[in-house]
Amino acid sequence: MDRLVEFAQARRIDLVVIGPEAPLVAGLWDGLERAGIKALGPSAAAAVLEASKGFVKDLCAANNIPTAAYKRFREPDAAKRFAYELGLPVVVKADGLAAGKGVVVAETAAERDQAIDLMLSDADDEIVVEEFLHGEEASLFVLSDGKQVLPLIGAQDHKRVYEGDRGPNTGGMGAYSPTPVLTSTVVDKALDRIVRPTIAAMAARGTPYMGVLYAGLMIIDGEPNLIEYNCRFGDPECQVLMMRLKSDLATALTATRERQLDTLDLRWSDEAALTVVMAAKGYPGQYPKGSEIRGLDEAAKVEGVQIFHAATERRNGKLIATGGRVLNVTARGKTVAEAHQRAYQAVDLIDWPEGFCRRDIGWRALRA
Ligand code: AMP
Ligand code: GLY
Repeated sequence: MDRLVEFAQARRIDLVVIGPEAPLVAGLWDGLERAGIKALGPSAAAAVLEASKGFVKDLCAANNIPTAAYKRFREPDAAKRFAYELGLPVVVKADGLAAGKGVVVAETAAERDQAIDLMLSDADDEIVVEEFLHGEEASLFVLSDGKQVLPLIGAQDHKRVYEGDRGPNTGGMGAYSPTPVLTSTVVDKALDRIVRPTIAAMAARGTPYMGVLYAGLMIIDGEPNLIEYNCRFGDPECQVLMMRLKSDLATALTATRERQLDTLDLRWSDEAALTVVMAAKGYPGQYPKGSEIRGLDEAAKVEGVQIFHAATERRNGKLIATGGRVLNVTARGKTVAEAHQRAYQAVDLIDWPEGFCRRDIGWRALRA
């Protein structure tokens, strides 16, 4: 962290935008601002909205924010009793950061008990056990300067690794925007009942939230419920948001840091965007690194397509995969269907036998 601060000072960086949650929670924003460097993102104290699921649930309870029924536990037997009362499926969540892998939606009693035992195996572990909500998920993004809220747009990601939204959760296998379930009425309800009360509560406790706030929602019969907060853009949701943003991003982020959100008027494209994550075979479990990817130049020529690299490296003129989620093949289109068609046309031009992707990104929107 000290080296990042030194780097920003040496290069006279005007604004540092902190992307991932770990450095935010570790206090990178605080460190940069202490050193006189402007940074966008919540302080460590405000990043608790992502760092502690239990904190968020208590904040919801105290402020009447709609969310799943829950209790916090440190002791497995009590957790199992409560989970048993909730019935199946039931959701077990590690309290702290787990890179999108700390949530188990248990379908059976064995899975439920195993998840509880595993997540409470250390003395200082804490979990949240919560009711399973049946609905449709969507993500709403806002900018906040600590007081005001400027809604961005919504997106829907696909967290499960396999088609049909099956298999273990991942960081996200694809996303698209707009998402039909986030109507303007639903967005307004989410802002009024969930996001604004949260921003107000954070300010009232002396830890104002500044930065991008990502509200993971479950929409049940038109009523938004909070599933979780992330204190950053989503990955791969950010990719589709950026494809639709017509205004200048740096201006927007600077105005947020300067607490001048009211001066901003963001413009968004009416076009849809969709991104397909190409991941190394084996992800989200064990996977090999170092395989070669070919065909990107051809793929990038497909109309409306932009390929974002998540984990690649150039070695001796070759493009090498260096992580789990490796490429985001992203396309714009007049409709989600057109963006879908273009993205997969590009995917099919990529020659990477060691990789895979879901073929059904956007299926809910395509069905609608
Ligand atoms: P989280 O990290 O809290 O977003 O949880 C990861 C995923 O688990 C979510 O995107 C949902 O698909 C699922 N999930 C979490 N909590 C619930 C819940 N209460 N009801 C249904 N699904 C949930
Ligand atoms: N795509 C989910 C996340 O960024 O947390």
